[in-house]
Amino acid sequence: MTAIRIEPVVENLSPQLSDELGFGRQFTDRMFMHRYSEHEGWGEPTIGAYQSLVVDPAAAALHCGQMVFDGTKAYRRSDGDLNLFRAEQNCRRFNRSAERMGMPEVDENLHFEAIKTLVSLEHRWVPDVEDASLYIRPVLIATEPVLEVRASREYLHYIIVSPVGPYFADGFNPIAVYVSHDHVRAVRGGTGEAKTPGNYAASIAISESAREQQCQQVLWLDALERRYIDEVGAMNIAFVYGDREIRTPPLSGAILHGVTRDSVIRLAPDLGYTMNESRMSIDEVWRDIENGTITEAFGMGTAAVIAPVGRLVMQGREVTLNNHQSGPVARELYNVLTGIQYGRREDSYGWTTRVATNQISSSAAAD
Ligand code: COI
Repeated sequence: MTAIRIEPVVENLSPQLSDELGFGRQFTDRMFMHRYSEHEGWGEPTIGAYQSLVVDPAAAALHCGQMVFDGTKAYRRSDGDLNLFRAEQNCRRFNRSAERMGMPEVDENLHFEAIKTLVSLEHRWVPDVEDASLYIRPVLIATEPVLEVRASREYLHYIIVSPVGPYFADGFNPIAVYVSHDHVRAVRGGTGEAKTPGNYAASIAISESAREQQCQQVLWLDALERRYIDEVGAMNIAFVYGDREIRTPPLSGAILHGVTRDSVIRLAPDLGYTMNESRMSIDEVWRDIENGTITEAFGMGTAAVIAPVGRLVMQGREVTLNNHQSGPVARELYNVLTGIQYGRREDSYGWTTRVATNQISSSAAAD
């Protein structure tokens, strides 16, 4: 693995974290960058000053959207060190997304090393506040100036980090969800499995209409029959049947391989729940919420961890879940996952990687 060059950076020794962290509004002093060209392969990876990118206006990413990203987080432990949560899974998914978009793979070990080094150098920016963390955003963009629709021959792989609060301003509280029949997020065989910006761009117009109906997120149905439940907003979704069984749609090719989804699937049986991956139609889900068979629903994602759903709105009708309160199953999963992430609970799954905050001193970084 190529060593990462660490450039001197004028660093903010005691960063002022905004009271309202929001999600991804503030960025740290440093970033990781690594360039690729078809002729020369990967260049020297560096961690240097956070900076604006100089990208040719004809760069393929800006025209064809050949780009991918991912997200993972570093959490502050009570002993001051940091925990990464299943970050190696995000490295793997980053490459799966790159492959789907016809982009070169990155070296997963280098990518993981870059995350660990960057987080260690920027540890001052990891909030020591309940429900806050440092969000890590790796990106791969096609930089070759070319308007032909084909794979770029040049790429930039970079990683930025941002101190974040809860994804939803209200924190762990039920969200209202608008069921979309007209707009779809992704189709099997399309790019739904990849974390590529086009999937998110496709969700923006309808999400704005949902907001006008006081809904924070959109529930996506399958693109072919507009019948089966796929995802909620940028998260996977699960429904709780009779307080003990959790069902989530299977990975159909249109659904993102969520790391939180996978963690819930692995945790749930150990917590005494029956876990099933099964297709669910919106009509049967609606009926089962109305007749009380479904007792809770929640979204699962890196940003929000677990987001309880309190209300569904569909074609002028609406239905409420658990009296619009956070349910006990969502609460338990949230507590167990965040307990492991922040190091408050034993990590019997080996999901966390501890990053010592004194691993690389600032002066060594500025050598
Ligand atoms: C996640 O929760 O995993 C996401 O992908 C959300 C992100 C796009 C902000």
